[in-house]
Amino acid sequence: METYSAPAKIILFGEHAVVYGEPAIAAPFSALQAQVTVMPAPLGSGLSIIGAASGLTLHVSLANDTPDNALVYAAQLVLKALGKPPPDLTLALRSNIPIGGGFGSGAAVSTALMRALSAALGAPLSGEALNNLVYEVEQLHHGTPSGIDNTVIVYEQPVYFVRGTPPETFRVGAPLTFLVVDSGVSASTRETVGDVRQLYTRDRAHYGAIISEIGEIVRTARTLIESGGALEELGALMNANHALLRALSVSSAHLDRLCAAARDGGAYGAKLSGGGRGGSLIALIEPDLAPSIAAALRSAGAAQTWLIQLT
Ligand code: MEV
Repeated sequence: METYSAPAKIILFGEHAVVYGEPAIAAPFSALQAQVTVMPAPLGSGLSIIGAASGLTLHVSLANDTPDNALVYAAQLVLKALGKPPPDLTLALRSNIPIGGGFGSGAAVSTALMRALSAALGAPLSGEALNNLVYEVEQLHHGTPSGIDNTVIVYEQPVYFVRGTPPETFRVGAPLTFLVVDSGVSASTRETVGDVRQLYTRDRAHYGAIISEIGEIVRTARTLIESGGALEELGALMNANHALLRALSVSSAHLDRLCAAARDGGAYGAKLSGGGRGGSLIALIEPDLAPSIAAALRSAGAAQTWLIQLT
């Protein structure tokens, strides 16, 4: 039995604005993973997907063309791309990525499942083919995704991403230490992306200016990350990015409180990460402050924290 996996992701700068053509910076987050194990199934039993924790079983046929279940849709897309009928197999899925947590759970689950199924069919998908198929599933999850989640998760590399252009990776001049924080509140990216779209449609001049300002922050952040050091400036850019996301209506009192707790505890900067209104946030810190800032975040209501280094 083979197991295939895919990591979660964090967005460092530029979420939401990236939907409108501005750049964003994201990195894989491998402390959280989706995993799919391929198991043989009796002859004639067809293809099933089992949630390892829930025990929920889904049967995959090619009959239903527009399933509203993303897992079934992901499996169908692989079968259609490879021109194969459903094999007699069971795909057992487990994931420790919080759903609605801003960590790209949907894209990670689709990626692991498509990797597993295509490999089991003897035709593992290339990175580009997999990325395109996961993006199709993302459209079911998110409506109008930029494609950043599937790109960073499929390629498992930090990316500087501009919608519709090939992803670029970037150099990290000096290691950066982040606390990644699960706010404990799950939120729908589809909803926040839709709400930002409504605001933008209503007042293009005002919200368009906010989106451009976020783009400017991302371009400056990339230069600072590549040149190394400048942690104060990078932290200030994170705080400014968070304030602009608040102006786009995608922060929340809880996220603002958690960001403030991180900054008060000595973080260089903090911002929400991903869709917002809940989900996750990140704080740029000195490694030796990690225990005290993590404790302050938990007292302020965070569900969980992880320490990661971007090198
Ligand atoms: C979600 O991880 C990032 C958003 O910018 C949506 C997207 O880019 O598709 C909020």
